[in-house]
Amino acid sequence: MVKTAVLVSGGGTNLQAILDAKAAGKLPHAEISLVVASRPDAYALVRAEKAGVLCAVLRKGKEKPIEQYGRELLELLHSHGIELVVLAGFLTILPENVIQAYPKRILNIHPSLIPSFCGAGFYGLKVHEAALAKGVKVTGATVHFVNEIPDGGEIIAQKAVEVLPEDTPEVLQKRVMEQAEWILLPQAVEDVARSLCQQ
Ligand code: GRF
Repeated sequence: MVKTAVLVSGGGTNLQAILDAKAAGKLPHAEISLVVASRPDAYALVRAEKAGVLCAVLRKGKEKPIEQYGRELLELLHSHGIELVVLAGFLTILPENVIQAYPKRILNIHPSLIPSFCGAGFYGLKVHEAALAKGVKVTGATVHFVNEIPDGGEIIAQKAVEVLPEDTPEVLQKRVMEQAEWILLPQAVEDVARSLCQQ
C-alpha cells in the first residue's frame, strides 16, 4: 500500500470523501497515513481525528522563508514515509523543493474544467463566480499532478457538471463537489496509488 498524506486548509469535505472511500474498501492501494493542515482551526482535522488518522499542523508563517517551510514539510512527510501527497482544498502554494521531491506524486483537485478558471487567484468560490460571470453552461472538476505552474500539471481526471440558470456561486460549488470532486478525487488517488504499486 502507498503511504499517502492529505494536505488540507478548510472544511475537509474532499478529505472526508477519501476517508469514506477508504472505509468502504475502495482504496486498496492507498493507506491514509497522515493529514497535514495549514491552520489549527481547519475542520478537516476533526474529520481526520474521527477516522483515527494521524494529524499535524504546519503553518507557513509570514516571516518564515519559503524554502524553510518546504524543508519542514518535507521532514514531516519523510518522517512518516509518505510516498504520495494529495492536496484537498490546500490553500498554500507548495515550495519548489517539495514539488521536486515528489515528481508525479502530488495530486490536486481543482473545481473547474482546467484550463478554464484556474491558476493564480482562482480558488474557492472565486472559481465559481468566474464561471457564472462568463456564462458557461458546463463546468466541473479536475484532478491533476502538481508541478511548478499553479494548476498547470498533467491532468489525471475530469468530470463535467451542468450549470443551471438560477445558480449562485454557492449552489454551483455544492453541485460541483457532490457530482464531481467527491467522486473524482478518491478514484484518482486509487488510480495513482495502484500505478505506483505496479512500478
Ligand atoms: C474544494 O472546492 C476544492 O476543489 C478547492 O477547495 C475546496 C475545498 O473544500 N480546492 P474542502 O475543504 O475539501 O471541503
